[in-house]
Amino acid sequence: MVLIVIFLFLFSHISASYGFDPLDPKAKISITWDLMLDNGDTYDIRVSVYNFQLFRHVERPGWKLSWTWKDDEVIWDMWGAEAIQQGSCSRIRGQVLPHCCQKRPVIVDLMPGARFNKQCTNCCKGGVLSSMTQDHSMYLAAFRMNINKPSVNITGSFMPVNFSIGLPGYTCGDPFQVPPTKFKEDGSRRWTQALETWNVTCVYSQFQASPTPKCCVSLSAFYSSTIVPCSHCSCYCQGLPGARCVKYGESPHLLELPHANEEEPHPLVRCSRHLCPIQIHWHVKESYREYWRVKITINNLNLVKNYSQWNLVVLHPNLRNVTEVFSFNYQALGPYATINDTGMFWGIQYYNDMLLQAGLNGNVQTEMLMHKDQDIFTFRQGWAFPRRIAFNGDECVIPPPDEYPELPNVAHTAKAPLFTTLYSLSLLIVLL
Ligand SMILES: *[C@@H]1O[C@H](CO)[C@@H](O)[C@H](O)[C@H]1NC(C)=O
Ligand SMILES: *[C@@H]1O[C@H](CO)[C@@H](O)[C@H](O)[C@H]1NC(C)=O
Ligand SMILES: *[C@@H]1O[C@H](CO)[C@@H](O)[C@H](O)[C@H]1NC(C)=O
Ligand SMILES: *[C@@H]1O[C@H](CO)[C@@H](O)[C@H](O)[C@H]1NC(C)=O
Ligand SMILES: *[C@@H]1O[C@H](CO)[C@@H](O)[C@H](O)[C@H]1NC(C)=O
Ligand SMILES: *[C@@H]1O[C@H](CO)[C@@H](O)[C@H](O)[C@H]1NC(C)=O
Repeated sequence: MVLIVIFLFLFSHISASYGFDPLDPKAKISITWDLMLDNGDTYDIRVSVYNFQLFRHVERPGWKLSWTWKDDEVIWDMWGAEAIQQGSCSRIRGQVLPHCCQKRPVIVDLMPGARFNKQCTNCCKGGVLSSMTQDHSMYLAAFRMNINKPSVNITGSFMPVNFSIGLPGYTCGDPFQVPPTKFKEDGSRRWTQALETWNVTCVYSQFQASPTPKCCVSLSAFYSSTIVPCSHCSCYCQGLPGARCVKYGESPHLLELPHANEEEPHPLVRCSRHLCPIQIHWHVKESYREYWRVKITINNLNLVKNYSQWNLVVLHPNLRNVTEVFSFNYQALGPYATINDTGMFWGIQYYNDMLLQAGLNGNVQTEMLMHKDQDIFTFRQGWAFPRRIAFNGDECVIPPPDEYPELPNVAHTAKAPLFTTLYSLSLLIVLL
């Protein structure tokens, strides 16, 4: 038992540790640096940030882009974003001081509704980037700036180095030159292009973002009275150093609440055997002649966070025959065209796209109807339960298969080996 838990724990990290996710093999955040204009002593530059991820998004407080200049460049002015520190501009003489003189500026997006003369195309989203699946208008951010040219000759390009996107779990590579970006003009009848274009690619690793999981799964079925809770210590254990939680009926101490401007508040969770901020419950609700019905509930046990634009990715072989999904948006995710066993759920705008904090009705739920595919459908051997679930792109811990609710008439002796094989198989599929 303990071994299985450890194995699961390790496994859920192995798949994510090198930043490669088999469900979204092309996942990345891409930064494009376009040199638009050479004014003699200054450059005009346009920087765009694209979230090329199917199901991972960037929430408030949002991205914070930084880089290191190669020489003594300063940013004279900026539109669509701002540097959080001006830094020391004492080496500059003149009536007007630059926007930022730091060797390593940190740039944040402007808020929606920023002053009109400070805006630019695709700017001002408060650092929020939606996933590609959820909102096509929100997965891109852009800003413009005017910088001075470096005063000494730099061998190679002046392109700065050491980019960072300022989000937990993301690592950015070195800039590389790509063919110049082209821009549409006159309703696509004419194209202009940048003088030079460089890309930087940033990838996510769940293990780097957090050494412990953030989500667990509990299971039940109409054919069994067993409710399988989240595994013990799925996310952390009560009693271990650093564990903190709030008992039901108690309210958190004021000292424990995050400060107003804290980056990403450390989760403060309800006390439970698993200490996860998010619990997903999968209930096999009903079986009809040709269809079966599953109810999925997402519980927020975090007292200090509302999850906006949350999403859930589920892997189950019968998802290729989804007939209807109630109260959530649904889209099949097909990284490999032939296997259609993965789908993504997310909230309906203004209805349940915000998963409120624990204590404020912190749950959302859906039911879905799936067509029984007679070739593969069965209630035996835990087949009706999900193979893999991720909340906001982070793997959830699923209880070991030998704990699954079983059909009343399943013989006990035949159970164990079958379960093990089935489970190893599904692991193999996931790993491949
Ligand atoms: C560079 O990034 C842009 C968007 O950021 C992307 O469309 C383009 O394919 C990238 N080019 C390369 C060669 O990776
Ligand atoms: C910089 O390099 C150019 C040619 O590449 C040269 O003409 C110029 O004198 C150099 N300037 C300095 C300050 O070294
Ligand atoms: C790159 O940035 C990191 C901080 O993000 C810093 O610790 C490191 O020294 C920088 N490296 C270079 C070569 O500037
Ligand atoms: C979550 O949203 C509710 C209702 O909009 C609000 O009262 C609460 O302060 C929010 N909590 C956090 C941590 O932002
Ligand atoms: C299967 O996946 C493709 C995308 O790869 C999607 O267009 C299609 O609707 C999916 N089929 C079902 C039944 O979900
Ligand atoms: C389920 O989906 C698969 C693949 O799309 C299809 O071949 C099969 O006929 C479907 N079964 C039912 C019962 O709809």
